Amino acid sequence: PGERPLAGKHVLVTAGPTHEPIDPVRYIANRSSGRQGFAIAAAAAKAGARVTLVHGPVAIPLPAGVTAVGVETARAMLAAVEAALPADIAIFSAAVADWRPATEASGKIKKDGSGQVAPLTMTENPDILATIGHRTSGRPGFVVGFAAETDALLDHARAKLARKGADLIVANDVSPGSGIMGGTENEVVLVTDDGADRWPRLGKDEVASRLIDWIAGRITP
Ligand code: C5P
Repeated sequence: PGERPLAGKHVLVTAGPTHEPIDPVRYIANRSSGRQGFAIAAAAAKAGARVTLVHGPVAIPLPAGVTAVGVETARAMLAAVEAALPADIAIFSAAVADWRPATEASGKIKKDGSGQVAPLTMTENPDILATIGHRTSGRPGFVVGFAAETDALLDHARAKLARKGADLIVANDVSPGSGIMGGTENEVVLVTDDGADRWPRLGKDEVASRLIDWIAGRITP
């Protein structure tokens, strides 16, 4: 591959957590920093691609040379992703909340003095990766998902390939103590229909540039 193996390609990347509102001042979130996805977006831009980065609330700087779309909720992330299509390559690295509070209270929920706490009723969020991966028209040519797991990494990653309609699942172990979620390093296994490729523990920037090279090698003739 040349210096700019993704020249002329549109790469769509999702990154970071989502925030799912409970009421105007409270939300449900997760520990994703957005670092891996931001590094992937930066690496894709460096490889010559036009990059759209759809990201949740993060505290890290935006990579240069990408079109960034900031969103809060999973539903807004799906809408932003659909608005950004068509894309040649879509990489779904966001840690999307699987569930959200079924309703968002219009005012701040108050203690009522009874000592009783109202249960929080949850409902499922749309699965952005699966929605795009299973599209029959306008599906990006190469669809990548992540699988952050604490156990049975490969089994779960293989199941996700089919369930989500992905061409590649990048599996990583986010067990407490791994230091990966929210950290600066990652240890990934690339899972495709052809098998599994385990990479050593690397900086997230290095994982990103190797991943972009790997994908470029698969899609460019
Ligand atoms: O099922 P699980 O959440 O482990 O799947 C992870 C993969 O699916 C990631 O690529 C993530 O970005 C994507 N995902 C998504 N929308 C969701 C849940 C996960 O795009 N609601």
